[in-house]
Amino acid sequence: MARIDQALCLDDFEAMAQRHLPRPIFEYIRGGVETNASVDDNRRAFQDYAFIPRALVDVSSIDTSVSLLGKQYRSPVGIAPMGLSALSSYRGDLVLAQAGGQAGIPVIMSGSSLIRLEEVATSSPGTWFQAYLPGDVQEISKLVDRVAQAGFTTLVITVDTPVAANRENNIRAGFTTPLRPSARLLLDGLTHPRWVCNTFLRTCVRHGMPHFENNYATRGAPILSRNVLRDYSDRGHISWNHLRAIRKQWKGALVIKGILRKADAVTAIETGADAIIVSNHGGRQLDGSISPLRVLPEIADIAGDIPVMLDSGIRRGTDVLKALALGARCVFVGRPFGYATATGGRKGADRAINLITSEITRDLGLLGVTRLQDLSADVIRKIHD
Ligand SMILES: Cc1cc2nc3c(=O)[nH]c(=O)nc-3n(C[C@H](O)[C@H](O)[C@H](O)COP(=O)(O)O)c2cc1C
Repeated sequence: MARIDQALCLDDFEAMAQRHLPRPIFEYIRGGVETNASVDDNRRAFQDYAFIPRALVDVSSIDTSVSLLGKQYRSPVGIAPMGLSALSSYRGDLVLAQAGGQAGIPVIMSGSSLIRLEEVATSSPGTWFQAYLPGDVQEISKLVDRVAQAGFTTLVITVDTPVAANRENNIRAGFTTPLRPSARLLLDGLTHPRWVCNTFLRTCVRHGMPHFENNYATRGAPILSRNVLRDYSDRGHISWNHLRAIRKQWKGALVIKGILRKADAVTAIETGADAIIVSNHGGRQLDGSISPLRVLPEIADIAGDIPVMLDSGIRRGTDVLKALALGARCVFVGRPFGYATATGGRKGADRAINLITSEITRDLGLLGVTRLQDLSADVIRKIHD
């Protein structure tokens, strides 16, 4: 087993996690959809830009702090919401929230999580909460009330999942939600005893069988169950009207995640969103949906003072700087934080945060820029069409 400090960049955590996790769980994190067109283009989009560094600028002092939704963060990179984090790593949601909170970066807790949101809010105040809207619209306001009562002040609503995505890779790898007990799952467990003992059994012994805790105001299905009953009903009928109702009810900051169209960004802002996350869900929803970096400039252009953030494919400090130069205020990273925490727990999360934030500082120095406000389209050029 590689030691966590042997990871020198975010991509290094993937192979470590692949060795550590049973295949269905690893593939659940790694997977995209169908042909992986969006997953692949999310990376390619960053290669379409090149830097034009400034020479002989005094970069002895570099400030990477960013102001976002009334708070000051130490670096313009945060942890994206990931469902089932407590299945891949012991108490994963708490670990990510605490690691990010202590490092001074934003962390978004997923609503498809296995630890009660109240516990995360208490242990890491300042964490943002992400909700998938319950298909049963009566349940929406109850969930929003619960999130507010727990003390969260930033609510992220994900809007790119109107219907379930075609996750063929999950089926091929034997992953279902809830997980169905099977000979194959048992064999996967036997060949990954560290995960079975240190994550799964430890969770069951100390906290009981994990359940989906936060899709609704009340507890959902267990993670391991014979009946594959989905934890959420169809949400195909959810519209901007539901967002307007949430805006009236929710007094904190409201962030809309999963915007790719300029017109939707306009509607989100008109609806009262305090910020937008341009995202294609890491290429896990509609295969072939455009890479967020490619639409970022046009969305940033109409957003005015509303912060525009971005995720999907960020792996390097240079990716972060390109997104900021094209108009993002902050970016989020998903899979690598999942891999790092699965492999190394809190140490893994800390290592991943440290690697990406150090790269940002170093890359700013090499670019000849000392403050994030000075990153503009002037420091990059599009080199491929
Ligand atoms: C394992 C996994 C679970 C995810 N679960 C959620 C979720 O519950 N809610 C959500 O809004 N996005 C979810 N996402 C999408 C991420 O928030 C984010 O948009 C995406 O991972 C960013 O792309 P990247 O992984 O290439 O950094 C998930 C992504 C992964 C990899």
